[in-house]
Amino acid sequence: MPGGRLITFEGIEGCGKTTQLRLLARCLQARGLPVVTTREPGGTPLGERVRDVLLDPSLAPVAVGELFLLEAARSQVVAEVVAPALSAGNFVLCDRFADSSVAYQAGARGVDRTEVERLNALACAGVVPDRTLVFDLDVELALARARHRPTTTAVNRRFEDEAISFHRAVAAAYHDLAHREPHRVVLVDARGTPDEVHARALAAVMDLLP
Ligand SMILES: Nc1ncnc2c1ncn2[C@@H]1O[C@H](COP(=O)(O)OP(=O)(O)OP(=O)(O)O)[C@@H](O)[C@H]1O
Ligand SMILES: [Mg+2]
Repeated sequence: MPGGRLITFEGIEGCGKTTQLRLLARCLQARGLPVVTTREPGGTPLGERVRDVLLDPSLAPVAVGELFLLEAARSQVVAEVVAPALSAGNFVLCDRFADSSVAYQAGARGVDRTEVERLNALACAGVVPDRTLVFDLDVELALARARHRPTTTAVNRRFEDEAISFHRAVAAAYHDLAHREPHRVVLVDARGTPDEVHARALAAVMDLLP
């Protein structure tokens, strides 16, 4: 993608993605770099509505339906936010992206991986992250963090409520991704304070900075 760089933040629930995205955004801005932040599912009016549907425990889409909802939100945020911001030369930081579907819908829900990759490619329209940071944290510790988060509520906890085996399958899929694509996907040790994790995240994107 000409000009900008896309950095995506991935990992299981509560591993620190949103915290680290904010810290890296602030850090890049302090270096005078243009930064655009967004999230998935979400980032557009359509995507935010889809997000509400996806996180609502009273609605339980079948695995393929869940994938289609995510791809709808993904195609919208790519077209409306990510691709234009990259073309304009920004550092785009995205809280979850296409790899989440490889980890969740393929890795944990069992949808065929090749099909997930094909739909991801269709939704992303040629946009590929320059670096994907996977925040790597023990499942129990991450879930404890997620459950204490003030923004977790009765209507958005569908994924937090999944069994521990589900989260382990997601974590394993992320490890597999890092193994398959070591130049793009980097495991970041997410233990310790937010500042300690931030130092590791910054080191993992340093080669992308001017
Ligand atoms: N290094 C850390 N040490 C302790 N607590 C942390 C750390 N990083 C984040 N937290 C806290 O843990 C909770 C989860 O962090 P955060 O929301 O950043 O995770 P997330 O990966 O974005 O979660 P989700 O997948 O649910 O969006 C928050 O309450 C946050 O303040
Ligand atoms: Mg978050």
